[in-house]
Amino acid sequence: MRNSSRSNVDPFIVMDVMEAARRAEEAGRHIIHMEVGQPSTGAPVAAREALAKALDHDSLGYTVALGLPALRKRIAQLYGEWYDVDLNPERVVITPGSSGAFLLSFTALFDSGDRVGIGAPGYPSYRQILRALGLTPVDIETSLDHRLQPVPQDLTGLDLAGLMVASPANPTGTMLDKPAMAALVEAAQGQGAAFISDEIYHGIEYEAKAVTALEVTDDCYVINSFSKYFSMTGWRLGWMVVPEDHVRVVERIAQNMFICAPHASQVAALAAMDCGEELESNLAVYTRNRALMLEGLPKAGFSRIAPPDGAFYVYADVSDLTQDSRAFAREILDEAGVAVTPGLDFDPERGATTLRFSYARSTADIEEGLARLTAYMAARRG
Ligand SMILES: Cc1ncc(COP(=O)(O)O)c(C=O)c1O
Repeated sequence: MRNSSRSNVDPFIVMDVMEAARRAEEAGRHIIHMEVGQPSTGAPVAAREALAKALDHDSLGYTVALGLPALRKRIAQLYGEWYDVDLNPERVVITPGSSGAFLLSFTALFDSGDRVGIGAPGYPSYRQILRALGLTPVDIETSLDHRLQPVPQDLTGLDLAGLMVASPANPTGTMLDKPAMAALVEAAQGQGAAFISDEIYHGIEYEAKAVTALEVTDDCYVINSFSKYFSMTGWRLGWMVVPEDHVRVVERIAQNMFICAPHASQVAALAAMDCGEELESNLAVYTRNRALMLEGLPKAGFSRIAPPDGAFYVYADVSDLTQDSRAFAREILDEAGVAVTPGLDFDPERGATTLRFSYARSTADIEEGLARLTAYMAARRG
C-alpha cells in the first residue's frame, strides 16, 4: 500500500541503542544505561497513592479536553512558586506528554510548508514531528561560543514562521539566561515568527534557576511535562501554556486529536506536584552524578565536555577519538558494556563526532559506568 512522503521520518537512534542494549542483556550481559533520558525513579509515592485511592471510587472516564481544572490551577500556582509569574489557569492546557504538546502547538501555529527554526544540536523529534506534519524544519547550527544555543543573529534571513528553543537543552544541558531568552523572543517576533519554549527540564538545574519564556513575554507557547523533574515518563502527561486568545483554537484541536490526556495520569500528577521533598531528593542524586561525570569523563579520555546547567546529560565532542559516533557507540556497548547515544540523533551534520552521556540513573550505576569507560578507553589507547 502507498505511504505519504511526509511519513518518511528518521528513526530515533537512541531507541535503536536501547534495543541493542536490551538484546545484550537478553544474552546475559550486564549493561550500564547511559543512553536513556529518563529517571530510574518512579512516580512519587503520594502520586501513586492518590491514583490507587481514585481507582476505588472514580470511573476515570474522559476529562474535558483542556484537562482537570484542579490540575490546571495547580500548574498555574507552580509558575508563582518557581518564577514569581502570575498565570491565569485558563491558559494552561494538559497534554499527552510534551510530545502531544508539540503536535498541538505545531498544528495550531503553522500552515503546511511553514519554516520552523530549531537549534542543532537539539531534541530530534522536533525535526521529525515537523516533517510528519508537512512543515519545514530549519536547522540552526549553534556554536560553542554561544554554548550551543541559538542567538538572534542566527535568525537573519531565515524567514521563519516559528522558532523552537529548549532551556535546559537536550543533549547539552545548557540554558538561556533572561537576557538571552529576551533577545531571542524579540528576534523571533521581529520576523513574525511564533516563539515556542520547551521547558521540560525545568526543576533539574544546578547553579541558577531556569528562566521561563513567560518571564519575558505572554506572546509565546511554553511546553513542559511531568516526565523529567516529576519522574513520570511513562504516564504520558505534559502541559502547555498559550496566549489567552489561543486557548479555544488549541482546545478544538485537542478535542479532536486526543479527546483528553490520560485521566489516571492527571490524578497522579496533581498529587506529584506536592511531593517536593521526594523530588528534591531525586535532584540531589542528579547533582551528585553530575559531579562524578564532570570528574570521571575527562579521566576516562572524554575531555571535550562543558558543564551542563541543567537536565541530566553531558554532550562530549569526540572528534579526537572517532569520525563515526554510531560505530563508536556500538563499540562502547560491545566492549565496555555501557550504552551511550551517538550525537547523530541531535545533529545530523556534526553529530558524527559527538556522544551524549546520560546520568539520570542511580549513583552506583554512574560509578560503575565511569569505571568501565575508564578501563575500556585505557585498553583502547593500548
Ligand atoms: C527536550 C525534550 N523535549 C521533549 C521530550 C519528550 O518528553 P515527553 O515525555 O514529555 O513527551 C524530551 C524527551 O526526552 C526531551 O528531551
